[in-house]
Amino acid sequence: MKAELLRELRTSTDYVSGQSLCEKFGVSRTAVWKVIGQLRAEGYDIEAVTNRGYRLCSYPDIISGCELMSRINTEWAGRKVYFRKETGSTNDDAKYLAEEGMDHGSLVVAEKQTEGKGRRGRVWESPAGDNIYMSLLLRPDFSPDKASMLTLLMALAVADTISQLHPELKVGIKWPNDVLINDHKVCGILTEMNAEPDCIHDVVIGVGINVNQTEFPEEIRKTATSLRLEKGDHIDRAALILGIMEMFEYYYGMFVEHQDVSAFVSVYDGYLVNRGKEVRVLDPKGEYTGIAEGINDSGALIVNLPDGSAKAVSSGEVSVRGIYGYI
Ligand code: BTN
Repeated sequence: MKAELLRELRTSTDYVSGQSLCEKFGVSRTAVWKVIGQLRAEGYDIEAVTNRGYRLCSYPDIISGCELMSRINTEWAGRKVYFRKETGSTNDDAKYLAEEGMDHGSLVVAEKQTEGKGRRGRVWESPAGDNIYMSLLLRPDFSPDKASMLTLLMALAVADTISQLHPELKVGIKWPNDVLINDHKVCGILTEMNAEPDCIHDVVIGVGINVNQTEFPEEIRKTATSLRLEKGDHIDRAALILGIMEMFEYYYGMFVEHQDVSAFVSVYDGYLVNRGKEVRVLDPKGEYTGIAEGINDSGALIVNLPDGSAKAVSSGEVSVRGIYGYI
C-alpha cells in the first residue's frame, strides 16, 4: 500500500483527503497516518492540512522499492522491485530469487554491493549511495543462442535513457555493451543465463551505472567516468532506472517480435563508438585488426578486413583504438 499511496500523492495536483485514501485502500485513518509517518521518516516532505488532506511537497533522492514502484509506468519491466541497502551482488540475488519463483521483469536494486561482479571475472567497485546497481530478471521463451542479444538491448535502453534525460551528454556504446560518455565508461552490463541446451530458465541482466560518484580508484581513473562528472550536476537515479525499464520493455517487445535486433540496428549503430574505427579482435584462434562497420541483425560486429573480406564477430573481445587509451 505504501507505494500506491505515494503514487496517489505524487499524481495529484491538489491535496489528497485522508478519507479518500482510506476508501481507496480499504484501511483506517490510523493506518494511513502510519504510512504517512513512515514516508516522512524516509525523507518525503508531506504536508498535512486539516480538512484538506495530504500533499507531497518534495521527495528525497532514493531508489527504494517504494519510490520506484510509485513512479513506474511500464507493463512489466521493473514493476516489482526488491531493494537492498547492501548486498553481495544484485545478479546473485536475482539468480537466487529466480529459483524462488520471482516474476519475469522483477528488478533487484541495491545501494551498495560488497561483491559486485564485472565481466570476465573482474570486480565491479560498488560504493554506497551514489550509483545504480540493478539486475533485471527475464524468463524468455526463445532459444538460448539468442540470449546474448539481450545485453545489446539493455545497452541501448541505457544509452537512450541517458540521452533523453540529459541531451547535452555525448553518449556512445562500445560494442557489445559498455555505455560511454565522452569516450569514458559510465555503465557496464553483465548478463548471466540459466539454461539447458534448448531452453532458457531465466536470464539476469545486471547493470552498473556510475551516476553521482566523483572519485574512482587509480586502476580505472583514466577509463571511467560518471554522469555527474560529465554533466557537472547531481543526477536523479530513480528517473534513470525508470527510464531504462521503459526503454528496455520497448526494445524487448520488438526483439521478441522479430527474434533478432533487426528493428533497431540503425539506432544501435548511431551510438556505436567503434564504427568506422580500427579495432583489434582478440580471437582465441588469432588476433586480427580491421575496420568496424556496425552490427548485423544478430548483434554481431561486422569487421572489414584489409583483404576486402568481412567477419561477423559474435564473441571474443574487441579492442578499440582511441578508446580507453587502448592504443
Ligand atoms: C562490466 O564488467 O562491464 C559489467 C559490470 C556489471 C556490474 C553490475 S552492477 C549490478 C550487477 N551486479 C553485479 O554483481 N554486477 C552487475
